[in-house]
Amino acid sequence: KLKEGLLSGTSSEECKNAAGFDANENESTVSITVVGASGDLAKKKIFPALFALYYEGCLPEHFTICGYARSKMTDAELRNMVSRTLTCRIDKRQVWPFLLLNCDEKMEQFLNRCFYHSGQYDSEKNFSDLDKKLKQHEGGRVCNRLFYLSIPPNIFIDAVKCASMSASSGNGWTRVIVEKPFGRDSESSAALTKSLKQYLAEDQIFRIDHYLGKELVENLSVLRFSNLIFEPLWSRQYIRNVQLIFSEDFGTEGRGGYFDNYGIIRDIMQNHLLQILALFAMETPVSLDAEDIRNEKVKVLRSMRPLQLEDVVVGQYKSHTKGGVTYPAYTDDKTVPKDSLTPTFAAAALFINNARWDGVPFLMKAGKALHTKSAEIRVQFRHVPGNLYNRNFGTDLDRATNELVIRVQPDEAIYLKINNKVPGLGMRLDRSNLNLHYAARYSKEIPDAYERLLLDAIEGERRLFIRSDELDAAWSLFTPLLKELEEKKIIPEYYPYGSRGPVGAHYLAARYKVRWG
Ligand code: NDP
Ligand code: BG6
Repeated sequence: KLKEGLLSGTSSEECKNAAGFDANENESTVSITVVGASGDLAKKKIFPALFALYYEGCLPEHFTICGYARSKMTDAELRNMVSRTLTCRIDKRQVWPFLLLNCDEKMEQFLNRCFYHSGQYDSEKNFSDLDKKLKQHEGGRVCNRLFYLSIPPNIFIDAVKCASMSASSGNGWTRVIVEKPFGRDSESSAALTKSLKQYLAEDQIFRIDHYLGKELVENLSVLRFSNLIFEPLWSRQYIRNVQLIFSEDFGTEGRGGYFDNYGIIRDIMQNHLLQILALFAMETPVSLDAEDIRNEKVKVLRSMRPLQLEDVVVGQYKSHTKGGVTYPAYTDDKTVPKDSLTPTFAAAALFINNARWDGVPFLMKAGKALHTKSAEIRVQFRHVPGNLYNRNFGTDLDRATNELVIRVQPDEAIYLKINNKVPGLGMRLDRSNLNLHYAARYSKEIPDAYERLLLDAIEGERRLFIRSDELDAAWSLFTPLLKELEEKKIIPEYYPYGSRGPVGAHYLAARYKVRWG
């Protein structure tokens, strides 16, 4: 019995409850077409996430996965390519041989449901052939179709046009997941939205920001709204500043061509960090319904003051030699112009002009080729008024303030820094962490963000996808700054590969009496 339970896909009940498969599920089928299947994102994230969903029993009984791209490939070649990326998420405390056997079996079953169709992105004829192929696999059932656009943005519209004209479902739903970048400023983003809406209704468009699918970002609302102790403190009255920090310990390796046209502000700040900020700062939504949550997020974004040049520091990494190894400069990438001024690092101070957050600096920092890889939210609380124990901290009173850290990745954790007495007869104070360390608390691996988002798109759950008005509000905050940076050709502060980034970021924080965590 135990073995059967473990073999049966473990958490399928959990998925079905969460996803709410309907009673007619057996009569319908879902076809997921990965457009751009030969590319980096498809291999790295999308196929592995689809397999993980299958392995966990989260995909509906009838489904087909089809890779679509221009490259010539047979079904067998696609399966071979995909098979190299798959892994099973096995509970670390239960690695028994039959679980591993089950993993191989599941991979084979999954691969047998994957097919490939080669075609151009702007050919209605090629998409019409895809439609025929999908119909064969759908076997006359009600068919729901999900297209994942994992292609460069300049061909989004061609692909959407052809998919909607020639391969959309005749009797079920058709949805399209669109990957960032959603334009590069307010105007181009509005133009993209307008073009998408020629072929799709807003409720068919799923704009992905994969940070919204990360476990600890999802947990933000739970932390705030289901614990009495946090929400009352969540305002200017008790919070001194909030820091949103993203860092990678590698450069733009392999993606320099894309990156140079966008830079770190568009790549990370305007979307991933801003989305976290909106979730962090929003008022309590009326319900957990997607529209209610997104309404609250938009209000935050629209209450923010657009960024000014003086609120920002930009940097770019330069070559650095350490331990006999030379790490390249950003401009050493062959796809990047030698005189590029594109920032690979930025720090910014943002403000929300509403009653809850007036005057509280929200500091963002994002950079590539830094000393560490991490993403975290740091909430620094105010000093304790009239603190009886101040003398224990000498002149460094900031050290005594509480700090809540939400470590989004790696090694997910939520910890609260508190002051406590060092045990003993004297009265010395210490700083300690009350720590929810996920790896210690939960034995099962945390799902990848793409799994949650794909499952939500299949289920029509829009909570974690970006609505067009959110996108407009996000661009309005950053567009004037981006234009000014480019028009004035602002020279970035150079920092060595593998360092902590430009020193200017510390001066910026110091202006607001903040010390980076
Ligand atoms: P790729 O550059 O790997 O492109 C995906 C596929 O699109 C390629 O395999 C190729 O397939 C086709 N393609 C590439 N360039 C062109 C072109 N100029 N004209 C027509 N077809 C082309 O992209 P990624 O997989 O890296 O990314 C896909 C999307 O996801 C992009 O929008 C990207 O910005 C976004 N993204 C990517 C991330 C990543 O980590 N890779 C992270 C977040 C977002 P074929 O030649 O076989 O048709
Ligand atoms: C993508 C950016 O959106 O996010 C990349 O385009 C970045 O530049 C990536 O590397 C980081 O995602 P994650 O999930 O690895 O932190």
